[in-house]
Amino acid sequence: MEKGAILETIAKEMQTGVLVLDKEGRALYANPFLLSAFQISGGVEGRGIGEIIKNVDLRKAVGDFIKAMRKDPQDVEINEGGRFFSVHVVSLKDKSDFSAMVFFQDITEEKRLETIKKDFVANVSHELRTPLASIKGYSETLLEGITLLDRGLGGIAPLGSDTAKDFLRIIDKHATRMSRLIDDLLILSRLESHQMTLVYAPVDVKELVLSTTAGFRKQAGDKGLKLFSDMPDGLPKVSCDKDRIEQVVVNLLDNAIKYTPPGGSVKVSAVKSDGFVTVDVADTGIGIPADDMPRIFERFYRVDKARSREMGGTGLGLAIVKHIINIHNGRLNVESRPGKGSTFSFSIKAVA
Ligand SMILES: Nc1ncnc2c1ncn2[C@@H]1O[C@H](COP(=O)(O)OP(=O)(O)OP(=O)(O)O)[C@@H](O)[C@H]1O
Ligand SMILES: [Mg+2]
Repeated sequence: MEKGAILETIAKEMQTGVLVLDKEGRALYANPFLLSAFQISGGVEGRGIGEIIKNVDLRKAVGDFIKAMRKDPQDVEINEGGRFFSVHVVSLKDKSDFSAMVFFQDITEEKRLETIKKDFVANVSHELRTPLASIKGYSETLLEGITLLDRGLGGIAPLGSDTAKDFLRIIDKHATRMSRLIDDLLILSRLESHQMTLVYAPVDVKELVLSTTAGFRKQAGDKGLKLFSDMPDGLPKVSCDKDRIEQVVVNLLDNAIKYTPPGGSVKVSAVKSDGFVTVDVADTGIGIPADDMPRIFERFYRVDKARSREMGGTGLGLAIVKHIINIHNGRLNVESRPGKGSTFSFSIKAVA
């Protein structure tokens, strides 16, 4: 096999862009990956780099490299049309002629994952910091009180046992919140890494919905909400992991109740269609603005952060719902009108 043919095939097939420029900075060659990555049409031969890829950082880096006829390679990162490329420039010495070879590696996905990771760590730290600060503040105050008591200086008495109880309740509330956050994170992480073993079995959706709804009766009643269900008889069973789907219904009901002001109502219903069973959780609550809709299933995303946090939410409920429905190959849908209410629906394939 001829070496030229081998190299040509490599350049043609490689998933890295290659651009070769002469000492005037004019293109001699571009491989197919580069042409498609930068949507270059027409030949590149004889065109300057600025004409081919209109990126200021790239033009400057490559221009300077060629002007200085640099021998040592140079690396630069560019952001072009929403994509990130790691660019590696090397000199190509051919007898007395100088030319530059530029390699473009698409690192958009790496960058995206890096950002997700950074955001995730920042979010978790932030969510843990608030309850921790409270726990620390109140426990320190209690501790001071007890220390004074030990020294016979009145101690917890001036603080009052009712106040002390209030402090302990706040500590307990924040500790519960932290432990819920950790539980949710563990569930999410197991779902995302496919480490959660699902136990599939035919499940009676009516039974599942009715028993889950019953668990929310008190919460809804205390808030002055009407909670009712409309589950027809004769629904086919669905093949799913019962505990996980119960979690979906719990998370949706929890939201519906949380985001519906007193006097409103929450209704759970189900229908059979196209071999699927669809469950609707509809509320007459505050609704979701259209701009926020595409993001509500993201981890930690909340329309009104302060309000949700006040209610003990961390913005993980819907992310968990999405994952669970995804692994069941189900469908998820939301319809919402701000000020009117929202309906969250999920569908799972019925057992044939
Ligand atoms: N039924 C609903 N009505 C109005 N807004 C909703 C409804 N369900 C979800 N949202 C919005 O979507 C956001 C994300 O919901 P999600 O369940 O993921 O988080 P959360 O309820 O804030 O916290 P968590 O579920 O962890 O307790 C909520 O903060 C809220 O702004
Ligand atoms: Mg929620």
